[in-house]
Amino acid sequence: MSEIRSVEHVLRVNHAGERGAICIYKAQIFVSRLLYPSCVLPLTNMLAHEQAHFRAFDEILAERSLRHCHALMAWAIGGWLLGFFTALLGQRAIWVCTAAVESRVNAHLEHQVEFLGERDEQVLFAVQSIRSDEASHEAHARAQGGTPTGLYALLWRGIYGATSFAIWLSTNL
Ligand SMILES: [Fe+2]
Ligand SMILES: [Fe+2]
Repeated sequence: MSEIRSVEHVLRVNHAGERGAICIYKAQIFVSRLLYPSCVLPLTNMLAHEQAHFRAFDEILAERSLRHCHALMAWAIGGWLLGFFTALLGQRAIWVCTAAVESRVNAHLEHQVEFLGERDEQVLFAVQSIRSDEASHEAHARAQGGTPTGLYALLWRGIYGATSFAIWLSTNL
């Protein structure tokens, strides 16, 4: 687990991560409209959560006159490509992608909650308030077949590793 350096870094990496999540879900919805219509509604609900999460961190960054992550555009493009190409692999790959990303995010948020402790009440509250949504995204994705079994374990590992790398990068940018 990478070291958390400051509250500012927590805000920045979460803000960037939510931007990435929005783009993953948008790309998955785009493909699902054509190929897997039954996925559109749950993915649209998750997208709405991610948009609210993004706004929450965006507002705190603005209130504190803090810049956003330099790699924000990379998160957006990377997220969109990840969502798009995994969706082309099939419906199960959509849920493996979602479960792997959200599982990494949930571990990351738990680590942040420990760090924030009594350091920053406002940011602690913001992080705590998105946790139940992220946990529900992971649970839904797992229930739909997003589990790391068989060949999908390779996909899971790749996506989990890429998410860890993106978190590490934005923690340092
Ligand atoms: Fe989120
Ligand atoms: Fe999420």
